[in-house]
Amino acid sequence: MEEPQRQRVAVVGLGAMGIVAVKNLLEEGFDVVGFERSSYVGGLWHFTEDEDTLSIIESTTVNVSTDRASFTDFPFPVGTSTFCTAKEVENYLEAYVEHFDLRPHFCLSTSVRSISRERNDGRWRLEFERRPSEWFDKVVIATGPHIRPMMPVLEGADVFTGRLIHSKGFKKPETFAGQRVVIIGLGNTGSDVADALVGHASNISISHHHGAIVMPRLLDGVSATSRLSYRFIKLQGILNRLLPKFAERLYNKTARQIMTDAFGVVDPAWRLDPALSVLVANPVISDTLIANLLSKAVLSIEGIRKFVGGRQIELTSGEVIEADAVICCTGYKNDFSLLEKEYDPSSTPSPSWLHAPGSKNRPYPRLYQNIFSMDAPDSLAFMGCVWFVTGAFCLADIASMCIAQVWSGKASLPPRSTMQHWVDTQEKRICTLAQRGAVIPTAVPPSAWLSWADRTAGMGVEEHVGWSWKGWLFWWRERKLWKMVMDGPFTSAFWRLFPGRRKHWDGARAEILRLNKEVEESREKARLLAIKAKAA
Ligand SMILES: Cc1cc2nc3c(=O)[nH]c(=O)nc-3n(C[C@H](O)[C@H](O)[C@H](O)COP(=O)(O)OP(=O)(O)OC[C@H]3O[C@@H](n4cnc5c(N)ncnc54)[C@H](O)[C@@H]3O)c2cc1C
Ligand SMILES: *[C@@H]1O[C@H](CO)[C@@H](O)[C@H](O)[C@H]1NC(C)=O
Ligand SMILES: *[C@@H]1O[C@H](CO)[C@@H](O)[C@H](O)[C@H]1NC(C)=O
Ligand SMILES: *[C@@H]1O[C@H](CO)[C@@H](O)[C@H](O)[C@H]1NC(C)=O
Repeated sequence: MEEPQRQRVAVVGLGAMGIVAVKNLLEEGFDVVGFERSSYVGGLWHFTEDEDTLSIIESTTVNVSTDRASFTDFPFPVGTSTFCTAKEVENYLEAYVEHFDLRPHFCLSTSVRSISRERNDGRWRLEFERRPSEWFDKVVIATGPHIRPMMPVLEGADVFTGRLIHSKGFKKPETFAGQRVVIIGLGNTGSDVADALVGHASNISISHHHGAIVMPRLLDGVSATSRLSYRFIKLQGILNRLLPKFAERLYNKTARQIMTDAFGVVDPAWRLDPALSVLVANPVISDTLIANLLSKAVLSIEGIRKFVGGRQIELTSGEVIEADAVICCTGYKNDFSLLEKEYDPSSTPSPSWLHAPGSKNRPYPRLYQNIFSMDAPDSLAFMGCVWFVTGAFCLADIASMCIAQVWSGKASLPPRSTMQHWVDTQEKRICTLAQRGAVIPTAVPPSAWLSWADRTAGMGVEEHVGWSWKGWLFWWRERKLWKMVMDGPFTSAFWRLFPGRRKHWDGARAEILRLNKEVEESREKARLLAIKAKAA
């Protein structure tokens, strides 16, 4: 038999999501080339002072604990703190690239200008800024979900004499020394920017229309999200199907409880209530926001009605305040215009999305399981369109394992009508939520999505911990490990623990044991500290 020619795959963008896609496709035998506009990999985790390039600020620490923030077969170095710095994440990404020897497959400083499909042979043509076009059998888009900054429309912005910027251009807090700064938007970024400004700006206020659930990074010595175990996600999935209202209430209540346990009662003057439902919005993960509000280092103010001229701003309450700078922490939107229109998954938005108050003019990508193009599922896929509260790197790893398995023919997609039905149901769900207010357009139901991914990537998790003879056998032989998978930290290593179609990782078991031990020790330490504090 003749050896079939290896399929050529292009991965566009080498942030965290592009890197892991290259690795998983190589593992399935594809000939992969990754293209990156910048001269470095890692995307936004590489700090840059260039105001046109998105990056974290130097003081950023991650908001997801390192156990669930890592890729599935490459843990953070032993000794890394549960919530590490952005610099450590950047180093981690570089170490990942070295470990799997990905560099030879990268083309850095290469910007992709457009992607189109040849009508005759179905191959994809990539055009670049400064080099001749190239052709590929398949393409993975990993240009990141934060392509276009979203600026709010503010009346009178042109008569404001202070500085008005989007958080994308916020790089160094020192440049706001002695200034009165108003931050628009109470989210993860707004609260991070406020905290970075403390000690530099003379007056810091956060202006916001709605409240937020605020969660600490650590609770009782361990990551606050550690309550979202595998069992919790599965349970929530069942409840979601059977009793959706109850499930949301339970979810709301769990989040609230974490907030109250961590911070005690919050001052109503901060207007953190009513918060957006945790089904549709990110909780604000911050250890400093509440403390900053309490100490009045940061003030909570009403929404902005208009700029009146000079440095003056009128709030919705009618009060007029003065500011030297306004920083809009109002998020980003995705953009798929790199692709020719026919293959842009957001090119024909449905009226129900367009008219929902929560859509906010953002694109809605219609993709099977938020990964595969409906127009070319066997040759076009997208990274970064799957969201729920967990580590982004782990999700990207799982999503790209699915792509690699499907494209290599080891797993298959359902018939087109089934895929269409999934896409329609998902869109309807998001549009219904968007009637209530801002949503994350790429939010998927965690439990159902993970079940599909588990089967598609061939990870064997449900087979081994579910109600099957294999599940029963695993429980019988490995009760301790079974318990760790169900109730322990929801670590990325699960997905490489069991034998399956995707590559298995020998270190997974040891990593799960190590993390569980670490969590137990931290919990015990915190318990002893609490007892000591009480006694003193
Ligand atoms: C400020 C901020 C903080 C965050 N903090 C966390 C956190 O603590 N924990 C967490 O889990 N998630 C966090 N996230 C979420 C984040 O989405 C993920 O962590 C992840 O890093 C995103 O990776 P990415 O590869 O999709 O995007 P990016 O890192 O944006 O990478 C995309 C890459 O594509 C390149 N590119 C774009 N267009 C082209 C083109 N046409 N040609 C060639 N290359 C191109 C870009 O140069 C870039 O390098 C944060 C996001 C932001 C904005
Ligand atoms: C800080 O700014 C707020 C409005 O943004 C204002 O109400 C407050 O009085 C200011 N505080 C000081 C000390 O100037
Ligand atoms: C969950 O909380 C949000 C915001 O506080 C609220 O709008 C929503 O109705 C709550 N859902 C349920 C089912 O209680
Ligand atoms: C962490 O912060 C980023 C950026 O604000 C956000 O996209 C992501 O969803 C957050 N993660 C969680 C678990 O809140």
